[in-house]
Parts: sequence; C-alpha cells; structure tokens
Amino acid sequence: EEKTGLQDFLHINDFDKGTILKILDRAKEVKALLKSGERTYLPFKGKTLAMIFAKPSMRTRVSFETGFYLLGGHAIFLGPKDIEMGKREETRDVARVLSRYNDIIMARLFAHQDLLDLAKYASVPVINGLTDYNHPCQIMADALTMIEHIGQIEGTKVVYVGDGNNIVHSWLLLAAVIPFHFVCVCPKGFEPDAKTVEKAQQAGVGKIEITHDPKEAVKGADVVYSDVWASMGQKEEAEYRRKVFQGFQVDEELMKIAGPQAYFMHCLPAERGVEVTNGVVEAPNSIVFPQAENRMHAQNAIMLHSLGL
Ligand code: CP
Ligand code: NVA
Repeated sequence: EEKTGLQDFLHINDFDKGTILKILDRAKEVKALLKSGERTYLPFKGKTLAMIFAKPSMRTRVSFETGFYLLGGHAIFLGPKDIEMGKREETRDVARVLSRYNDIIMARLFAHQDLLDLAKYASVPVINGLTDYNHPCQIMADALTMIEHIGQIEGTKVVYVGDGNNIVHSWLLLAAVIPFHFVCVCPKGFEPDAKTVEKAQQAGVGKIEITHDPKEAVKGADVVYSDVWASMGQKEEAEYRRKVFQGFQVDEELMKIAGPQAYFMHCLPAERGVEVTNGVVEAPNSIVFPQAENRMHAQNAIMLHSLGL
C-alpha cells in the first residue's frame, strides 16, 4: 500500500547521509529533553505501536516500549507465541490487520523476506527490530554513541571482530552512506554476505575491508566492536563456533594493540569469556551501557521520522 508521508525503516542505506544525520540529531535533542525530566513532549499521543517478536529480546522490547510510552503513545508486545506470523496467519494478513489498529509496526523476525513482505502489505510504517540479515536500529544507536563519545562517525575507524552477521551488514550499509573506515575481521568462511559487501564498496563512500587477522586489523581503531559468535537461530552451532572462532576473542591484549584511543562496543547480550573477556566489558573505555541506553533514543527519532513528526 502507498504510505504517503510515512516511511519504513528497514535498511540504513534506504536513506541518504543528510537524513541519517538528521535522525541522529533529533535523537540527541529528544534524549536531552527526556534526560532533563521533561515529560510534556508527547508527539505519539493517541498513537499505538505493535511490536512483533519471533525471537527473544531485552533491549529492543524494553527500549521501544518505554520510548513510545515516554513520548505519549501506547505499545503492544506480541511475543513468539502470540501471532505466530507465517504459521498461524500469513504475513500479508498480519500486515493488513495490524495496520487497521496501529499507527506503526516494529518487527523482530528470522527471515528478512518476511520483514519485506510485512512492509509491503502494511499501510503504516514498519521498523526493522532485527532479522537474520540486519539490525539497523542497533547501528543507529551505535552511531549516536560514537557521536557522543568521539564527536563524529565520519573519518573514524571501526573494527568489528567476529562473525560476519546481521550486525556487520548494518555496519556495511552505514558505510555506504557515511564515509568512515569499517573493517570486519572474521574467520575464513564467516564473512558477511558478499552482495552486501559489494554494494557497500560500490557506493564509494566509506573504506571497507574484510580481513582475517584481528591483531593486524585493530591497530589504530577508534572502536573495537564485538557480538556473539552464534546468533539467535544458530545456538545449536555454539560449541562448533567456539572452536572455529579461537583467536577472535576481544581481550585485554587485543585492546592494547588497538591503542589507548579505542573504545569497546558490543550490541549485547554478551557472553563474557567467549567473544569478549569480562575485563574488556568492565574496562573504563567500554561504552556498552551508554550504547544500550541509546537504543531508545535512536529509535524514538527513527519513529518520529517514520511517522513524519
Ligand atoms: N542488542 C539487542 O538487540 O538486544 P536484544 O536482543 O536484547 O533486543
Ligand atoms: N547477532 C546477534 C545480535 C543480537 C542483538 C543475533 O542476531 O542474535
């Protein structure tokens, strides 16, 4: 359906640099307002948000629900057992029914195609709360966190250490819009999607590298970023992956090689002692909790943009 004045948020590179930076600016502004204790800015008043979760979540669920409420709206949580999208009911029917009750839909799903179908058939904006393919709200929050701690994204070096997964795809698509140096250092066979790498490289905006030597890659990084080695839907591979990913743990030694300027980031949840040591998560240069907090502020701004507010 036509969404006049409304916009889905499915991939970072669906937007140009100006729009992404504008959303991040708005996030800063509304964050400051909420942090000041101000509770009279209620742009979502009278509006409802449907949240579809096919996978578990803490941050995404709580940040969307809290953020939408704090700005005057009401959010509805639909867990894996509630609507069973694609099983109990077809995605295109879910999309059209929810669009008649709700002003906006957020979905966390397995197959990315299901999200695209949901967005196609919904007449209200659909926000991507993570799929097997990408996690754009996370990377918007990460970008906001970098702006707060480093001052900018442009010109920085971000080194992601681990599995070439959904988080990496969103970083690649951010580098297709904003010029910075993004390195994904991963074991051979665990590279990000080749088409996405190509798309990001062909955009000719950021410098993009896929490499296999963590010690070489992290040198001079402004951000060293880690995520779980086995994502949701891959948990039965966890043991096997622990073997293959030997040498890709972010530990104190790797952070030292990166240099004193390097911040540690992780989208969380983290498995301490697996992809990252406890010491690195707890170190003074770890910004994982401000990063988690920023999920809410980034998403508030994304929803404001999607609703044309
Ligand atoms: N980072 C993130 O999306 O966390 P949850 O899986 O808890 O939502
Ligand atoms: N790559 C992880 C991110 C969790 C926020 C997963 O998909 O499980």
